[in-house]
Amino acid sequence: MEERRAWWKEAVVYQIYPRSFADSNGDGIGDLNGITEHLPYLRTLGIDVIWLSPVYRSPNDDNGYDISDYREIMDEFGTMEDFDRLLAGAHELGMRIIMDLVVNHTSDEHPWFVESRKSADSAFRDFYIWREPADGRAPNNWESCFSGSAWELDEATGMYYLHCFSRKQPDLNWANPEVREAVYDMMEWWCRKGIDGFRMDAISMISKDPEYPDGISADGIYGDMTPYVYNRPEVHEYLREMNRRVLSRYDIMTVGEAARVKIDDALRYANSGGTELDMVFQFEHVKSRVRDRRAGKWITYAPTLPEVREILNRWQTETEGKAWNALFIDNHDLPRCVSRYGNDSEKWRALSAKMLATCIHMMKGTPYIYQGEELGMTNRDWGSIDDCRDVEEINAYRQYVEERRSISSAEMLKCFGEIGRDNARTPMQWNAGPGAGFTEGTPWIGLNPNYTEINAEREMADPDSVFHYYRRLIGLRHSLPVVVYGRFEALLTDDPCVYAYRRILDGSVMTVACSWSENPAACTLFDGLEGRELISNYGSHLPGKLQPYEARVILEEIPQR
Ligand code: GLC
Ligand code: CA
Repeated sequence: MEERRAWWKEAVVYQIYPRSFADSNGDGIGDLNGITEHLPYLRTLGIDVIWLSPVYRSPNDDNGYDISDYREIMDEFGTMEDFDRLLAGAHELGMRIIMDLVVNHTSDEHPWFVESRKSADSAFRDFYIWREPADGRAPNNWESCFSGSAWELDEATGMYYLHCFSRKQPDLNWANPEVREAVYDMMEWWCRKGIDGFRMDAISMISKDPEYPDGISADGIYGDMTPYVYNRPEVHEYLREMNRRVLSRYDIMTVGEAARVKIDDALRYANSGGTELDMVFQFEHVKSRVRDRRAGKWITYAPTLPEVREILNRWQTETEGKAWNALFIDNHDLPRCVSRYGNDSEKWRALSAKMLATCIHMMKGTPYIYQGEELGMTNRDWGSIDDCRDVEEINAYRQYVEERRSISSAEMLKCFGEIGRDNARTPMQWNAGPGAGFTEGTPWIGLNPNYTEINAEREMADPDSVFHYYRRLIGLRHSLPVVVYGRFEALLTDDPCVYAYRRILDGSVMTVACSWSENPAACTLFDGLEGRELISNYGSHLPGKLQPYEARVILEEIPQR
């Protein structure tokens, strides 16, 4: 079936975590003017769309994912005039901007919540989820995503409110039509301003099972809320309503953060009829289901090629012609991909970063690049909990190291070094100067010490760098319809080291092979293949094998009758 064309299917998106991108005024915190200054850099890279992590007013319990005013800019990031200049500047350079829409919850400092908590008969009471205590304790055993109970007792009325994330992020009650209207109104306000779409935070969690049953408990203390909070049927109703009321009336793109989503549900969220969202982020390939008795999700296990491949191939093939994919392997909640799936040693870092990029960017879907990924930025060591800034890490450390004493501090910090979110939040490495060119002051979170080696200035000057490789990958997507619209066909699905696939559109056949191994790997896919090499991270090739972390893409044009 012919795929319907759309600008967002042909686009490459770049995610900016504003706090860590560029600081224009020396206070150590990235800001909007910092982003505006670097728009030409993004243009050079070739990206089409910028996704801005939240820039709204916020007390910053979760770095802006706790919003206290949806129509104001966070003081540290600048003013609404700065935002308007950024938006206009991006548009002038032919780039669009999509906003993070965080509406599963607000900050507890949002006026809606301030009113809601005042009394049980406040006009805003039902904007949030309030329950009476059960036997003098929390209404159920759910554990929040950020450790501890998902319920917080509020002194004013002696009732509990639900917070799937931190206690400063109370969940909105989407079953209340007034909440939905208020959200649509706010979205409309931003659309009128001329923004180009939304990335919808935690959108798979907006509906909760009204029975609020206990979840299965692995540790005998807290229970798993997954079946009662994620991907419930009402979410689709709400999204269709949102689509009718707002989304369908503007030429915008939408991507939902759909934690725990399975393909069946994604086929509804991202259906090609366009009644809900354009695409969703699924997390099967980046979140490990392995759990540790001592510290829950905090483990050092890294998924292997066969695991990642099985998942991504399944998503590629089962959505074909029915739903559009979002392609990513890095974001602000994940460790750096080169450290996790590639090899961040000096010898292999650049090669393996390019290999991973090839693997993802040649697939079918809209690719997302997370700031610094295009430089091959890496994880860093976390020597002490005092260096960590992430509320998720800090809460987990308190729960497992300090309260339960089920894991040592050193082991926990090692887990943070492997999978902690702060790895993605170290400042963008612009140059080798003091502050890495990120700030003239003291950065809010410590730099990765390797900025003297790995930085944008150096990579832009080196045609062989990871940066220029990403630029070329993006260029291929822009110039070859097969990269955007070609059908995906998995190859070598049992190979222990090689991720290979084909993309096919009319007479164009593009063959992709990527070795995830630091040793040579047998591979005869390219032997005798007549075609044009589109890109490779090696200058020369060997018959019958791929070199360590080699990636190669060949295009054959088969004459059509
Ligand atoms: C999403 C965001 C994450 C945030 C959480 C709560 O998962 O990506 O950064 O902490 O939602 O808003
Ligand atoms: Ca600043």
